Amino acid sequence: MKVKFALFFIWNILFSVCSLDHIPRLTLNQGDGNRLLYSQIQKHTVFFHPEGSDELFVGGTDFVYRFNVDDGLLVENFSLPTTGEQNCEENPCENVITVIQQFQDSLFVCGTNGNKPQCWKLYPQVANQSSEIIESYEGTGISPHVYTQNSISLTIEGDLYAAVPLNSDGTSLQFRRKAGLRPNVWMYDRWMTEPTFISASWVKRDKDPEQEKIYMFFREKNSDSSPEADPWISRVAQVCKVDEGGSKRFFQNMWTSFLKARLVCGIPKESLYFNRLQDIFVQHADDWRDSRVYALFTSSWNSTAVCIYSMADIDSVFENSSFKGFSEEIPKPRPGTCVPNSRALPMATIRVIKDHPEMSDWIHPIHRQAPFYISSNNYTKITVDRVTVANESTHNVLFLATDHGMIHKILEDDFKPFIISETHLTNLSAPVQSMKLDSTKRKLFVGFPEQIAQLDLQRCQDYNRSCEDCILARDPYCAWSQSGCTPVSQGGIQNLAGGKTDVCHKNNDGKKRKKRETPSSSVDPPEAAYSVPLGVPFYLSCLIHSHHASYRWEHNDHTSQCQQTESDCLHLITAMSEDNYGRYRCVSREQDYTMIVKAYELNPIQAPENQKNAVTQVAAQRLVMTVLVPALIAVFYH
Ligand SMILES: *[C@@H]1O[C@H](CO)[C@@H](O)[C@H](O)[C@H]1NC(C)=O
Ligand SMILES: *[C@@H]1O[C@H](CO)[C@@H](O)[C@H](O)[C@H]1NC(C)=O
Ligand SMILES: *[C@@H]1O[C@H](CO)[C@@H](O)[C@H](O)[C@H]1NC(C)=O
Ligand SMILES: *[C@@H]1O[C@H](CO)[C@@H](O)[C@H](O)[C@H]1NC(C)=O
Ligand SMILES: *[C@@H]1O[C@H](CO)[C@@H](O)[C@H](O)[C@H]1NC(C)=O
Ligand SMILES: *[C@@H]1O[C@H](CO)[C@@H](O)[C@H](O)[C@H]1NC(C)=O
Ligand SMILES: *[C@@H]1O[C@H](CO)[C@@H](O)[C@H](O)[C@H]1NC(C)=O
Ligand SMILES: *[C@@H]1O[C@H](CO)[C@@H](O)[C@H](O)[C@H]1NC(C)=O
Repeated sequence: MKVKFALFFIWNILFSVCSLDHIPRLTLNQGDGNRLLYSQIQKHTVFFHPEGSDELFVGGTDFVYRFNVDDGLLVENFSLPTTGEQNCEENPCENVITVIQQFQDSLFVCGTNGNKPQCWKLYPQVANQSSEIIESYEGTGISPHVYTQNSISLTIEGDLYAAVPLNSDGTSLQFRRKAGLRPNVWMYDRWMTEPTFISASWVKRDKDPEQEKIYMFFREKNSDSSPEADPWISRVAQVCKVDEGGSKRFFQNMWTSFLKARLVCGIPKESLYFNRLQDIFVQHADDWRDSRVYALFTSSWNSTAVCIYSMADIDSVFENSSFKGFSEEIPKPRPGTCVPNSRALPMATIRVIKDHPEMSDWIHPIHRQAPFYISSNNYTKITVDRVTVANESTHNVLFLATDHGMIHKILEDDFKPFIISETHLTNLSAPVQSMKLDSTKRKLFVGFPEQIAQLDLQRCQDYNRSCEDCILARDPYCAWSQSGCTPVSQGGIQNLAGGKTDVCHKNNDGKKRKKRETPSSSVDPPEAAYSVPLGVPFYLSCLIHSHHASYRWEHNDHTSQCQQTESDCLHLITAMSEDNYGRYRCVSREQDYTMIVKAYELNPIQAPENQKNAVTQVAAQRLVMTVLVPALIAVFYH
């Protein structure tokens, strides 16, 4: 019974996913920007790029590249092969770089180093001088032994944190403070079961730095092993930045502020949950409470979902919830509270942390009833930009990478996603290895196995055909101005909320304005004329620009639907008859905007019998070879 219900709702969700809204409106190509080709295919890469900087550091196998993002040139190719005595018989003797961080005024790089993790401090990294190694350290606990093992790292105020396995067989994976000014601290073994760490983030509190917390996002094995339960469960955990572990007597060098809670993403009413955390983007705000966590999940039935959480809600669960399995009076200070000297914490407080670190309450997304976005696309990465639009309000734009290397650009329209576009950055279908947003430069750096591509976030020329084209795009980066569809920094007309195009014809005071002198869209396209003999098959086609528009053919008083292919709206005539002559228009309609995309005129010809045959043959051949076979199957067999 339960299973039947679940399947029904899954089917419902998948059905809703197929609606028009969840198809990217435009299909775009950006294969032309600055790109860096590797000399060899990379199986793993990591990026380091400070916001607004000209430089992108890329760690691959046996090298660190320094790449100038403005001119697309390779500034430095720093070779980092395996060092020291190696036992490379079983593992390839490669140094796959897994960590690049700014750490204590230098660039800190770690790699697998042929199964003997090692770290290097690179310095200086100024102007056109090449880097040099100034120090080198044993890297166990910072870099994994093998690049396929789980690995995350983070630097905060001169301290380095990492979650990687200590052992080459992948065991002893946990989150530790591993180097720097504060003492090293690690986790109690029983706090997590087979975790996979997705991300860690430091949430600053400018007015209260002592209370700052580090959040870890991870999934782990579900303790509920009943057959209908998902084997995985997704969570967020916290530790205090100032935590230095317990006293010499109890919990020395162990986190005394560790708490974890379940991140819920699903439809609670139907008990349907997306349980496998895949990627995280933390959007920081001036007030830490307004910071948001964008979480990408996958599910056992191969759908993906994005849920959005507020930092205030996450903190409130850690500060107010009861502790799972602990019914006694909560000791003071409350377990999980940040204190200046963690070594002086009372035993009772630390005992709760040790034995009952899980919160009873769950963390729900801000849209409580359902995920913000559910899709049948197999997304693997998420990043989010905040854009100040023409009227000075701000809007969020999500960038999601598919497993085929496409980028979906999605407007966060209050509670609804609007899929602006799907961009192909390369003509190869490969998963994205790394992705880094630069909001200042309006660029997204996307790492593929064979290259790094740049997605230009504000390519307004893609919607430059008319004011309506620009408005319907609902792209917060772009607005319609006197010089066409231009970056929003130059002001202009937008209508992000509705996408209605009436704004194109209104004055500021709302009155209808005279239509522009030559609005390209309102002018009928030139008519293509063909002379076609009676009896031959013929077809008309017009290009589909927007997948959210409906297209149809008009002929005399007759309207017919398209035979739609991936990119064209076709009108098929199996054999020309008298009725088929005359004018045809391919008309698109989207929102409040109707436009003639293409116009044809078909005229009869009186050809001698032998010539007619020739025309027929050519026309028939063209038809059969290109479109008719697939299209006719649709026409005649449906
Ligand atoms: C970087 O240097 C290595 C050897 O030092 C070389 O094999 C590789 O082709 C270089 N990469 C590029 C992109 O020039
Ligand atoms: C950069 O290189 C050029 C030529 O190689 C040199 O003239 C210039 O002084 C260098 N700049 C710095 C800051 O080292
Ligand atoms: C999900 O995808 C995996 C791998 O592609 C496949 O083996 C599995 O059958 C799919 N499951 C469902 C419910 O479609
Ligand atoms: C939870 O805790 C926070 C911080 O201590 C507090 O401001 C808030 O009022 C509490 N919320 C609830 C629902 O008790
Ligand atoms: C989704 O993409 C990931 C990464 O490429 C891949 O490992 C996984 O098998 C894909 N899942 C499905 C259902 O195709
Ligand atoms: C892919 O694009 C590159 C240029 O970006 C081109 O050289 C190559 O021929 C293309 N490959 C295919 C299969 O279209
Ligand atoms: C956009 O169109 C305008 C005319 O409406 C033209 O002046 C401008 O150059 C175009 N911009 C781009 C980037 O194509
Ligand atoms: C700006 O426009 C958005 C919709 O596009 C609207 O929700 C918001 O209220 C507007 N803000 C101002 C200050 O007019």
